[in-house]
Amino acid sequence: MQKVTLKLKENSYDIVVGNNTMPKLGAYLRSLNIGNDAIMITNPVVKKFHGKAVETSLKKSGFSVKVFEVPDGEKSKSAKHAFELIGKIAVYDCFKRPFIVALGGGVIGDLAGYVASTYKRGIPYVQVPTTFLAQVDSSIGGKVAIDLPVGKNLVGAFYQPKVVWSDVATLLTLDKRQVLNGFAEAVKYGIIKDKKLFDHILENKKKLIELDANVLADVVSECSRIKAEVVSKDEKETKGIRTILNFGHTVGHAVEAAGNYHGYHHGEAVALGMRAAVEISFKLGLVSQKNADLVNDVLNEIGLPQFIQKCKLSDIMRVMKHDKKFISGKNRFVLMQSVGKVKVVEGISIDVISSAVKKLMIIKR
Ligand SMILES: NC(=O)c1ccc[n+]([C@@H]2O[C@H](COP(=O)([O-])OP(=O)(O)OC[C@H]3O[C@@H](n4cnc5c(N)ncnc54)[C@H](O)[C@@H]3O)[C@@H](O)[C@H]2O)c1
Ligand SMILES: [Zn+2]
Repeated sequence: MQKVTLKLKENSYDIVVGNNTMPKLGAYLRSLNIGNDAIMITNPVVKKFHGKAVETSLKKSGFSVKVFEVPDGEKSKSAKHAFELIGKIAVYDCFKRPFIVALGGGVIGDLAGYVASTYKRGIPYVQVPTTFLAQVDSSIGGKVAIDLPVGKNLVGAFYQPKVVWSDVATLLTLDKRQVLNGFAEAVKYGIIKDKKLFDHILENKKKLIELDANVLADVVSECSRIKAEVVSKDEKETKGIRTILNFGHTVGHAVEAAGNYHGYHHGEAVALGMRAAVEISFKLGLVSQKNADLVNDVLNEIGLPQFIQKCKLSDIMRVMKHDKKFISGKNRFVLMQSVGKVKVVEGISIDVISSAVKKLMIIKR
């Protein structure tokens, strides 16, 4: 097992990465002394594959376990489901010392974390991420949220878990598209902070796609280390340091929103957003053609989308212009200088952005 500590002024915690580590989860949670009664929040898909292993591990360490399910999908990150869960927990929680176990991908992690942050003004929770994306990104850093009909993640908090328990064996049941989804975020970490990680991903891409446990554990652990390092310097995103984690996300979010969240998965949209960010960086003379090609080649080799085919340029630009950063007249992009080095640039001309996005809309036949 590899352990990364996310150091904070208060409430530091470990990110524990390993292969087939679920049997050890119960004992680890005992050592944290966070309660006696585990409330597992999950969905039917994840429960079917991994619920039993977690439940057994917790029970073996003397915890009581209550399981609450929400339907699969982003729709569960809603006020309706959050407050239904809170209601059920309140009824169940009588003379108990409850804590929440978020077992699932980013949707479950964000929702269960939000519930934990607000029930009784906050009860402890632990993240047990089961998607590649959740292990390298969403489970770390304490951003918890639900969506509103007008926009994603509009209600939420910074609320840190007591541990992030990433067992890469859970990823074996993911479908390939979900694996690629996480890949995009892993490549992102390489670009923003670590050329060695970028090269490692490139060299081992086949093993990663085939879900080789050792390579996966190394990559998840390295990505966790980078995210932990960034978050520990800027826990609540007030110093602008956390901004670099948004590399590829400005255009990426617009692509997701322009497709009404049905066209592309988050990681796929981020891959397209990273291509756009690299193109903008090149147009502004920040990055060499060689370095720009490096990024596009890696994304191509992994099999992430190369062209935007599921939404229109006008919709993408419209969404971006409605972004609050645009309204205040100053957009903000994380741009690349070389692999491992990025820079935050403000006030980029709409023409430059639009032509970079447009380049991705040309479909080669
Ligand atoms: N909090 C943050 O910092 C942060 C960062 C990035 C993304 N997010 C959020 O994360 C969410 C996306 O997360 P995601 O990509 O993990 O999606 P997800 O949680 O919807 O999971 C993707 C799919 O995989 C299934 N699944 C999960 N684990 C599985 C497993 N082990 N085997 C088989 N199937 C499995 C799920 O049921 C779902 O159908 C979004 O809501 C996004 O806003 C949050
Ligand atoms: Zn992301």
